[in-house]
Amino acid sequence: DGSADGESSLQLTKYECQRVTTLDHYNRKLVEALELLESHALLIGGEQSQGRALAFKRSSTAMKGLPKEIENVDEISSLRHLGNHSLRIIGEILTKGYSDEVEQIRNSEFYKATKLFNNIFGVGPTTARYWYDKGLRTFDDLRNSEIIKLTDRQQSGLDNYDELCEPVTLEQAQRIRDMVQNEIDIILPGTKSMLVGGHRRGKKAGHDTDILIWHPEEGKERGLLTKLVDRLELKGYIKYKEMINIDANTDEAFLRRTNSRGLSDIKEKPGKAMDHLERCFGIFSFPRTLLQLPQNDDNPSAARRVDLIVTPASQWAYALVGWTGNKQYNRSLRLYAWKELQINLSSHAAFDCREQKLLPASTEQDIFNYLKLTYREPWERNC
Ligand code: CTP
Ligand code: MN
Ligand code: MN
Ligand code: MN
Repeated sequence: DGSADGESSLQLTKYECQRVTTLDHYNRKLVEALELLESHALLIGGEQSQGRALAFKRSSTAMKGLPKEIENVDEISSLRHLGNHSLRIIGEILTKGYSDEVEQIRNSEFYKATKLFNNIFGVGPTTARYWYDKGLRTFDDLRNSEIIKLTDRQQSGLDNYDELCEPVTLEQAQRIRDMVQNEIDIILPGTKSMLVGGHRRGKKAGHDTDILIWHPEEGKERGLLTKLVDRLELKGYIKYKEMINIDANTDEAFLRRTNSRGLSDIKEKPGKAMDHLERCFGIFSFPRTLLQLPQNDDNPSAARRVDLIVTPASQWAYALVGWTGNKQYNRSLRLYAWKELQINLSSHAAFDCREQKLLPASTEQDIFNYLKLTYREPWERNC
């Protein structure tokens, strides 16, 4: 609001997508505390807590975006990005080294148990809270409970919990991508793939491997994902899978993705634009040699989470931005596009509601140009 006290007070752009946010930053301890509060608010749930979670997220990304380590809360008290609650926590940590509220949450039975459950693949905050309310606290409680029934996804997540907690290194992700590329070279020569998600943003270790797949010739990608997954299944690489937005060759969902008439869900206000990209997400089981892990005679393979996403060539640039993320970066990009430019942005396309036209893009740079934003490299999108 510009009412600075004359000193060079710190400034931040209104939206995260207007600034650079990297994995490395100056305020680790404060960000960790704010992220814990965000996570706790999500686990509590309900509309009010979700609003608080967003406020904590906004505060933590603001702290990541600052050009120096904060030593005094006055340095940031004029930033609009920080609410009173966040400022109070930050002030407390800066004066005595920790926050009572944060430590109390960290050590609470509620946070420990719901966080543990939420870490299981397939278990969201609502389910975690529901189990907590039923008196469950540990994995053994889940396994022995007679009152709850795990979904197949949750069962698989629980069965593979320890291995899924092992980080996926960049090298391992690259080897998984290479293996996938070998398969699609056989199925449909000319098909391309690349690592997206956290690894594309420069993370050395991720919780999964995200691979974007496309064929330069529009339409050739039809049916590809099913064939790929069939081959991977034959090789014994798939422990659990869910196929999303998969279409028989001619059906409606395919048209919805590719036919601009079918993009009607993007021609109005945002929030409606669904992700129609074909996707397989699941738990894969890779030979330890493929991951270059030390041999283990009891267990020759290791479970890892993998997301395979297929995009038609015409939507590739939007799919790339959407699947590179991170999530908060996308959120700010979509909010900015809508609020400032009345552009509805999705992982498929952008629609300019003032001009009433789609904005075709063949590179990420094209999209930044439409949005009148400075191009940001993937590693600058770590909000
Ligand atoms: N994404 C999406 N739609 C989904 C799932 C994910 O658009 N249904 C986006 C996320 O917003 C994120 C990217 O795809 O930008 C990758 O998601 P994810 O693997 O969950 O997170 P990462 O950023 O890769 O982090 P990690 O290293 O922990 O996997
Ligand atoms: Mn990922
Ligand atoms: Mn993923
Ligand atoms: Mn989407």
